[in-house]
Amino acid sequence: MSNRDKLTIFDTTLRDGEQSPGASMTRDEKVRIARALERMHVDVIEAGFPIASQGDFEAVQAVARAVSGSTICGLARALDKDIDRAGEALKPAASARIHTFIATSPIHMKMKLRMEPEQVIEQAVRAVKRARQHTDNVEFSPEDAGRSETDFLCRVLEAVIAAGATTVNIPDTVGYNLPHQFGELIRTLIERVPNSDKAVFSVHCHNDLGLAVGNSLSAVLNGARQVECTINGLGERAGNASLEEVVMAVRTRQDIFPCDSGLDTTQIMTCSRLVSGITGFAVQPNKAIVGVNAFAHESGIHQDGVLKSRETYEIMRAQDVGWAANRIVMGKHSGRNAFRTRLRELGTDFESEEELNDAFARFKDLADKKHEIFDEDLQALVTESGLESENDWVKLVSLKVCSETGETPQADMVLWVNGEEKQASCSGGGQVDAAFKAIEVLVNSGTELELYSVSNITSGTDAQGEVTVRLKLNDRIVNGQGADTDIVIASAKAYINAVNKIVQPEERAHPQLGDV
Ligand code: KIV
Ligand code: ZN
Repeated sequence: MSNRDKLTIFDTTLRDGEQSPGASMTRDEKVRIARALERMHVDVIEAGFPIASQGDFEAVQAVARAVSGSTICGLARALDKDIDRAGEALKPAASARIHTFIATSPIHMKMKLRMEPEQVIEQAVRAVKRARQHTDNVEFSPEDAGRSETDFLCRVLEAVIAAGATTVNIPDTVGYNLPHQFGELIRTLIERVPNSDKAVFSVHCHNDLGLAVGNSLSAVLNGARQVECTINGLGERAGNASLEEVVMAVRTRQDIFPCDSGLDTTQIMTCSRLVSGITGFAVQPNKAIVGVNAFAHESGIHQDGVLKSRETYEIMRAQDVGWAANRIVMGKHSGRNAFRTRLRELGTDFESEEELNDAFARFKDLADKKHEIFDEDLQALVTESGLESENDWVKLVSLKVCSETGETPQADMVLWVNGEEKQASCSGGGQVDAAFKAIEVLVNSGTELELYSVSNITSGTDAQGEVTVRLKLNDRIVNGQGADTDIVIASAKAYINAVNKIVQPEERAHPQLGDV
């Protein structure tokens, strides 16, 4: 990369992104996202927190097996058992990194860890040394660095670098910092830590004040050479710095930044759609880079200007981030090969002929109802195939809904519940309400409906609707998705998907709420 520094992109969609309530992903979903990140040339993929649960362990292991073009990272608290578990999960990786952390802010050390600062340094050093027994690529994070004392941070960083940390990551865990202040912190740390030249300085910013991207960019201008980020800015609470915004800001303003990432930015839209389809977290229309309006010029003056010369109102080209004008890619007569090829171009490889056949059968059904099939339809279809599993407790057999002016809508639902076909009829305020009531009569999940949202996948009245249903049971929150040209059927599918997720018991530790 000429005489410019390399900016390492560390994606944590599969770990911090997954910590958004309801955004949990299955192992196969994680593998699909990881493959898309690899195609985009993301340098490091944080695939999960292996000690958190057996599911997390297996997901990290599966990503480590499936991806060889990016370094695969596993998170571990500064505890031997966490680090060994991460090392074990990462064994199949062509290139593995262990990311270990312990909190360093006065409030976290006193209230959460109940440890003295000296003990924290000791434990951090021990953790890094332990991680080095598994891999020579070790990252250390002083959690809540954004509220830690600078002198103490310098001491911790010097000690962990001496112990073998190759990347030191400075997290603004609670999103408290302002850009000028955070940039200054990074500059000071690099200047004052005596062995700072032996490690890459990284940043990890949360978006509680909407400043995650601004803080990350300010850090880069002050010497950070790794940014941790997530697709669509997904993440704990208000999220993490959004990968697409960081990467495009640096790429677009090469007159300001002394570095660049090696990312293939034309893959950004594919990744964005994949993540929102899998998690059910819709992208707001005016979101920078990936929102549907990001490159749309509504006002006459803007349209006129853009037609005369694109640069009048556009600072980036839509196609450089993977926006293609809605393209009719396939139709009723398209064959299996064309279907497989287009999906491969969009980042999906089928694991088996059976999977391909299942998705192709769905494609044919859809093409019967909808004459023009767009890329977005194909992606929704693949997401849908992944939503159903043979082991599902509940499956939709049939649904009939009736509504008429002046009459109460009615839904007749047939479900397959735990091996038995069951039928219920319910009325409701609308067709969707009636359908959801009928599902509840049959499954009695005891859940609360937290969110119901519908978006159209493409334009036109024959477009598929994509529905997200968020259900809550005690402390657990899950998102279910469904897509169909019939919005009531899409809604029922989404509700059933959420029920199937919530009935699966899952014991899962949270990295930032654990014992140490
Ligand atoms: O926000 C945070 O501090 C984290 C650490 C584990 C890096 O996610
Ligand atoms: Zn975080």
